[in-house]
Amino acid sequence: MTGPTATGMHAVEIESPGPSGRLQLCRRPIPTIGADEVLIEVAAAGLNRADIGQRLGRYPPPPGASDLPGLEVSGVVVEVGSQAARWKEGDRVCALLPGGGYAEYVSAPAALCLPIPEGLGFAEAAALPEACFTVWSNVFMRGGLADGESLLVQGGASGIGTLAIQLATALGHRVFATAGSDEKCEACRSLGAVLAVNYRKGDFAAMVREGNSGRGIDVILDMVAGDYIDRELKLLADGGRLVLIAYQGGTRVTADFSEIRRRLWITGSTLRGLPSADKALIAEAVEARVWPLLAAGKIRAVIDSTYPLEAAEQAHARMMKGEHTGKIVLSMPSQGRSTSVDRRPA
Ligand SMILES: NC(=O)c1ccc[n+]([C@@H]2O[C@H](COP(=O)([O-])OP(=O)(O)OC[C@H]3O[C@@H](n4cnc5c(N)ncnc54)[C@H](OP(=O)(O)O)[C@@H]3O)[C@@H](O)[C@H]2O)c1
Repeated sequence: MTGPTATGMHAVEIESPGPSGRLQLCRRPIPTIGADEVLIEVAAAGLNRADIGQRLGRYPPPPGASDLPGLEVSGVVVEVGSQAARWKEGDRVCALLPGGGYAEYVSAPAALCLPIPEGLGFAEAAALPEACFTVWSNVFMRGGLADGESLLVQGGASGIGTLAIQLATALGHRVFATAGSDEKCEACRSLGAVLAVNYRKGDFAAMVREGNSGRGIDVILDMVAGDYIDRELKLLADGGRLVLIAYQGGTRVTADFSEIRRRLWITGSTLRGLPSADKALIAEAVEARVWPLLAAGKIRAVIDSTYPLEAAEQAHARMMKGEHTGKIVLSMPSQGRSTSVDRRPA
């Protein structure tokens, strides 16, 4: 692949979503945009665990979304819808998407685009939307992490976890984390976690409580569920909140629910399925509260590795093996060097 095609665009699609689903390079028409959308010439696209779910056939795109994988991109605005007045051609943005990010061009809701903070490159910017929206909405809006409260991040070395640790630390919270190797635990500590425990080496709940001087934790951000729930309910402080964002350990649970009488809350959400208006509110909050920390260099996207679009299969292999710490990113041939859009058929 040498660069943007003269007609249409390069993209990566999922062939036969399901257990044997695989990625393949393809040609697609350049997307058209709605009145409240912009067209982005993509420079980089972030990988997410959800993309793996989509290729395995477990996480189909919502109605109306592109069938191409890719929930976040960075790039340059090349077309602006009539009701997307905030943006103009040439703006450098990153965007949260319902799909379609593994491509040279993508249409994005204008309300879910954010300006790339000064000094950030396209790869780092592409790694931000999904993690920032997920962490802000679940830890702070839904979980209500308040001044002086503690946070436990399960999967602290994940794309989501590396951002959650930094963000909560930057806002003055005591952050605990779990990870699956000593090296990943060290990475969590380097990002600000006061304690990171290797969940393969013992009971995370006992280790975290001991590390918190015997006290419970105020908010737990959980992507495991399954047999973690019982221990998490016991680990929560009175009035604590358990926020579930994934169920990698299973959805069927045996737990002692009498713990709930300590005024506990269990909640959760899925970003992709939220109504557009809710996502727009999260975007506003992220720009107001998270963007200044990025611009000031107090937090950053942790980039594990970058692959060219045509090596998306290798990028997925790395994520499926769980070898990464932080975010994996795909880079596009154009690298954000804006060219004119040619809509002749692909
Ligand atoms: N609800 C939402 O809106 C939403 C949005 C975005 C992401 N998510 C979910 O959040 C999770 C992270 O997403 P991502 O894209 O950042 O994925 P990722 O980088 O692939 O991270 C997956 C993480 O899960 C951790 N993990 C697996 N089993 C664990 C266990 N038993 N105990 C503790 N940690 C465990 C892994 O830890 P090790 O590698 O250290 O073993 C890894 O850090 C995914 O499950 C994703 O589906 C949900």
